[in-house]
Amino acid sequence: MNRFKGKEIQALLTKEQIEKRVKELGAEITHAYRDIKDPLILVGVLKGSVLFMADLCRAIDMPIELEFMGVSSYGEATKSSGAVQITLDLTRPIENRHVLFVEDIVDTGLTAKYLYGNMRTREPASLRLCSLLEKPSKSKGEVKVDFLGFTIPDEFVIGYGLDLAGVYRNLPYVGVLGSDV
Ligand code: PRP
Repeated sequence: MNRFKGKEIQALLTKEQIEKRVKELGAEITHAYRDIKDPLILVGVLKGSVLFMADLCRAIDMPIELEFMGVSSYGEATKSSGAVQITLDLTRPIENRHVLFVEDIVDTGLTAKYLYGNMRTREPASLRLCSLLEKPSKSKGEVKVDFLGFTIPDEFVIGYGLDLAGVYRNLPYVGVLGSDV
């Protein structure tokens, strides 16, 4: 059991487990895109994907470009309807380029579904999704995670990019908050 600011945190995925899986994902991605000509474009969805993105891109053994997108949902009611707004867009066109989204977690799948719809209009050569975590119990099954780190139970998780009210993103592992100390 770890502690952070007086809270107990139960590690769900240790630093070592994450490191190992990220290396495997990097190898899978390198193999999957081995024949493409232009650099692969990794698109991190802010903010949660930042830590995963930083580790994953170093585990991919081929030329890549980094892009980021900011998305925002306005309240749970709006989010559950799938209405997501772009707060930060790509810096360049992706037409005829191979694009891989990088997410920390696919929960309901609505964010990924929206991003897919938005990106398809830009006519990339291919569009795939890599997520460190997925909660299949909540996902509506409309989005396929092409490269998945871990399947997790339907619990509120923090760390390694994932936040609770903006904090805990810098924990080097994924955990579940325990009782107050
Ligand atoms: C999280 C996560 C995904 C999204 C997944 O982002 O990073 O983008 O939620 O949820 P969904 O599958 O139910 O749509 P969040 O809105 O918490 O923003 P953050 O990454 O800035 O923490």
